Amino acid sequence: MNAASSNSTAPPQSGHGDAAAAYERVRSGSGVDTVHGAILYLEDITVSFDGFKALNKLNLDISVGELRCIIGPNGAGKTTMMDVITGKTRPAAGTAYFGQSIDLTRMTEYDIAHAGIGRKFQRPTVFEQHTVFENLELAMKMNKQVRPTLFFRLSSEQRDKIDAVLRLIRLHGSETRAAGLLSHGQKQWLEIGMLLIQEPQLLLLDEPVAGMSDAETARTAELLNELRGKHSIVVVEHDMAFVAEIAQGGKVTVLHEGSVLAHGTMAQVQADERVIDVYLGR
Ligand SMILES: Nc1ncnc2c1ncn2[C@@H]1O[C@H](COP(=O)(O)OP(=O)(O)OP(=O)(O)O)[C@@H](O)[C@H]1O
Ligand SMILES: [Mg+2]
Repeated sequence: MNAASSNSTAPPQSGHGDAAAAYERVRSGSGVDTVHGAILYLEDITVSFDGFKALNKLNLDISVGELRCIIGPNGAGKTTMMDVITGKTRPAAGTAYFGQSIDLTRMTEYDIAHAGIGRKFQRPTVFEQHTVFENLELAMKMNKQVRPTLFFRLSSEQRDKIDAVLRLIRLHGSETRAAGLLSHGQKQWLEIGMLLIQEPQLLLLDEPVAGMSDAETARTAELLNELRGKHSIVVVEHDMAFVAEIAQGGKVTVLHEGSVLAHGTMAQVQADERVIDVYLGR
C-alpha cells in the first residue's frame, strides 16, 4: 500500500553519459526510451510556495500502458503534481523522469509537450468558432510526428485517424458542428480527441468529468476504458463512482498533504482507514 515500496524502475540519474543524446531525441520528437517499462518516474518531489509544501517528497511511477487514477482531498497537490510533470512548476527538490533518461526538471513546458506529454486542464479549451472536424485537423497539424509543409493537406491515413478519433470521442456525425455549440461534456471529449491526435506517450487528465452530466460521465468512463493499454494515462478525479469504473483491476494512488497516503486497488484504498479519515469519510 505504500508508494515508497515501488522503486524498482529507477532510471539513470542525470549526468549519465547519454542524457544529452536522450534530450536531443526528445527535442527532435523521435520518442522516449521506455525500455524498462516505466513511462514516468517521480522521486521525492518537493514543491514549496513561500515555505508551504504543496508537494512533500512525492513518489510516483507509472508503467507504459497503465491507466492510473489519482485521488485525494482538495489541496492535496494533485494539480501541482501535473504542473511539475509538464514543466509549469519547478520542484525545489526531487527527480522527475519521463521514460528512462529524460529529466523533466530540466526541460521547458514546450519541450515537454513536444516530447509527448499531453495535458488536459479542467476547463475545455477547444477552438469554438471552428467545427469539430477542423479542431481535430488543427490538432493533426500540431502533431509533432507530422512533417510541417506550407500547404497542409490531410493524407487518407490522417483522415482515417481523425475518423477513428471521432468515433472514440462519440462525435462521429457531429464533425461539421461548431465546437462552441457542443455541450460541456462533448467539448471535453473533443479536447481529449485533440490530444490523442497528437499521439502523446503520456496523457494527463485533471478532473475530466467535472461538470459533466451523469450520462456524459458514464460515456467518459467507457472512452477511457477503450484507451486502456493503448496509452499511458494519469487521471485525477473526485468522482469516486467514475474512478471505480475506470480503476478496474488497476492501481489508485491517494495523495494527501503533498505525499502518497495510500496506493493499491480501488477496494484496498477504499478500505484504508487513513483514506476514509482524510478523504472518503465514514
Ligand atoms: N501558485 C501557487 N501559489 C501558492 N500556493 C499554491 C499555488 N498552487 C497551488 N498552491 C497550493 O498548493 C496546495 C496544492 O494545490 P493543488 O492545486 O495542487 O491541489 P489539488 O490536489 O489539485 O486540489 P483540488 O482537488 O482542489 O484541485 C494548495 O494548498 C494550494 O492552495
Ligand atoms: Mg486540482
